[in-house]
Amino acid sequence: MNFPDYRARRMRRTETLRRMIRETRLSVDDFVYPLFVVPGSNVSKEISSLPGQRHWSVDKVADEAARAHDLGIPAVILFGIPERKDAVGSEAWSASGVVQKAARAIKKRCPDLIVIADTCFCEYTDHGHCGVLHDGELDNDASLENLARTVLSYARAGIDIVAPSGMLDGFVSACRESLDEEGFEQVAIMAYSAKYASAYYGPFRDAVQSAPQQGDRRGYQMDPGNAAEAAREVSMDVAEGADIVMIKPALAYLDIIRMISDEVNLPIAAYAVSGEYAMIEAAAEKGWVDKERIVMETLLGIRRAGADMIITYHAPYAAERLAKRR
Ligand code: PBG
Ligand code: ZN
Repeated sequence: MNFPDYRARRMRRTETLRRMIRETRLSVDDFVYPLFVVPGSNVSKEISSLPGQRHWSVDKVADEAARAHDLGIPAVILFGIPERKDAVGSEAWSASGVVQKAARAIKKRCPDLIVIADTCFCEYTDHGHCGVLHDGELDNDASLENLARTVLSYARAGIDIVAPSGMLDGFVSACRESLDEEGFEQVAIMAYSAKYASAYYGPFRDAVQSAPQQGDRRGYQMDPGNAAEAAREVSMDVAEGADIVMIKPALAYLDIIRMISDEVNLPIAAYAVSGEYAMIEAAAEKGWVDKERIVMETLLGIRRAGADMIITYHAPYAAERLAKRR
C-alpha cells in the first residue's frame, strides 16, 4: 500500500469513519472495581493517598457495590483492613473478618455481581509481609497452609473468585486443592501470576497500612527487568489450574500483557494499580492533563495490549463516561 493509492487519512476523516474501523473498544464489561473494607460501622472515609476512593465499613460497602452494579460493572475485588494484625495474619481466615462479612452483605444485595477477594496476608500481619516469616524470610509452604484456610473461609462467605496475590510458589495448587476438597469446585481462581516488585503500590500500602516493617517484597515479587520469567510464572499458574491470569502493574508492563495474551489461551487481567491512578488524579487536579481523555486513553491502551479485563480504581468513572457516549 503506497501513497497516493493508499491515503490513510481517508478513513480518519470523520468520527463515523473512525468508529467504523476502530480495532479496540472499551466496555463497562471490562472493568473490575476495587473496594477497601474496614472495621466499624457507618464508615465512608476518603483515602488520602487515593483521592476519590474510600474506606467502607461492612454496612456501607454494599451501597457502593450496588452503585457499581447499577453502572453495569460486572465485578468488584475486595481488600480488607482487619481489626487486629498479628504475626501470621490470622484474621484473614476468620469467618467474621471484614472481607467475609462484606462478601455476604454484597451478595445479599446484588446476587449476580461477581465478588472477588484479593487473598493475601500483608494487610493482616503486624510485620506487613505476605505470609508467615521464618528468620526474617517469607516461609513459602507455611504461608500456603494459611492461604488454603483463607480461600475456604472466603468460599464459605460466597466469594465467586479468589485472587491469591502473595507471589508464593504453588499458590494456585494450594487454593484449588483446598477448594475442591471442601466441594467448592465452582469457585474460580484469578492468579496474580506476574506481579512485579513495584513502587506503583505505594498509595495502596498507605491505604491498607501494609508496607513491610522491615525489608521489602523483592524476595517474592518479580524483578522489573524480567519478561521471560513472567512467562514461566504464568505457565506454572496455568498448569496449577488458574482460571484467569493477571499481570500487575499495567502501564509499565504493557509488553508483558502483550506477550502473555499472545501465548496464553485464558482470560488475561491487568491491574492498573494505585500509583497509576494516583498519578493521573494528581496531574488532573493540577489541570496539567485532561482527566477524562487520559483515563479513557490509558484504559484503552491496556486493552489494546491484550488485557481482557482491567482492575481499575477508575471503573465507576469510566463506566459513567462510556454510558454518556452512547
Ligand atoms: C497485596 C496486594 C497489593 C496490591 C494488591 N494486592 C500490595 C502489595 O503487593 O504490596 C497493590 C494494589 C495497588 O497498588 O493498587 N499483596
Ligand atoms: Zn501481600
